[in-house]
Amino acid sequence: MRNAEVTVLGLGAMGTALAGAFLTAGHRTTVWNRTPGRAGGLTARGAMELPTAAEAVRASGLTVVCLADQEAVRQALAPLAEPLAGRTLVNLTSGSPIDARQSAGWAEQHGVHYLDGVLLTTPAGVGNPDFLQLYGGDRATFDAARDTLAALGDPVHVGTDTALPSVYDTALLGQMWGTLTGWLHGVALIGAEGPGGGVTATAYTEVADRWMTTVRAFMGQYAPQIDSGQYPGGEFTLHLHSSTMDILAHASELRGVQSGLPQLFRELTGRAIAAGHGEDSYARLVEFIKVGGPA
Ligand SMILES: NC(=O)c1ccc[n+]([C@@H]2O[C@H](COP(=O)([O-])OP(=O)(O)OC[C@H]3O[C@@H](n4cnc5c(N)ncnc54)[C@H](OP(=O)(O)O)[C@@H]3O)[C@@H](O)[C@H]2O)c1
Repeated sequence: MRNAEVTVLGLGAMGTALAGAFLTAGHRTTVWNRTPGRAGGLTARGAMELPTAAEAVRASGLTVVCLADQEAVRQALAPLAEPLAGRTLVNLTSGSPIDARQSAGWAEQHGVHYLDGVLLTTPAGVGNPDFLQLYGGDRATFDAARDTLAALGDPVHVGTDTALPSVYDTALLGQMWGTLTGWLHGVALIGAEGPGGGVTATAYTEVADRWMTTVRAFMGQYAPQIDSGQYPGGEFTLHLHSSTMDILAHASELRGVQSGLPQLFRELTGRAIAAGHGEDSYARLVEFIKVGGPA
């Protein structure tokens, strides 16, 4: 949908990228920034810059706010309750789940339709449809804003709880670090023979990339097991995982690679086996990752 009206509050690196993507998609884009003079490139492309945030909010039914932090958002929004009433506010400023619920509470109190969101990209990636944006809040509000937000990437509604995008963001970053650290462990293990002797990281990664298809299939298989609380081990039980982890730990020691990661795997798996779950699948470990789970 072209020609939607959208306002962007905040023209830092991210806000400027957001406004630029809305312009690229053909939307009538209004911008405001606390410090004037940052909209030059955007106004040259057709954006309208207004001197106050209240005027900018009144120019569109949909306002996107992206400031340095949530304290800045609270300060900027405090005088905007009246112009925002009956309009939609999308907050793309990074923050905690508590921040998200506070902002949602403020919006509800003032009759503002509210979505909290996270962009899983840097400013350079804004506008690329391959990048996810996650939103939480009222479904009808999301559905109404969806086509306009699609200018920024691929918008996904993760639930009505406005705290969810922030939790997803943190969980996904944790998964990224877990995956990248596992990959680095593999690179170090394969290439540990040093220059000239080992396999290059590039060669290893070509194989590792294909292996991720298998890892993805395991995730797809295990998620319903976790949801149902049933963990049939099939052909790949925790006993089998455990013996393979022992080989990984041994190989790491032999090849001068830190053993912290294999030890973590072994510790979790060992506890699950000791609790009688050796014939279960790897998904059973979710219970042992939780604080307050089985000892
Ligand atoms: N950059 C990234 O790679 C990236 C990626 C994902 C998420 N984010 C998130 O996006 C948000 C914005 O990041 P950014 O990189 O655009 O930051 P930035 O370049 O530092 O810009 C900060 C913006 O906040 C405004 N601001 C600060 N305090 C304010 C206040 N009290 N009232 C009104 N405006 C205020 C600044 O206005 P002035 O120009 O007047 O100072 C500026 O427009 C952050 O929450 C960040 O975590 C950024």
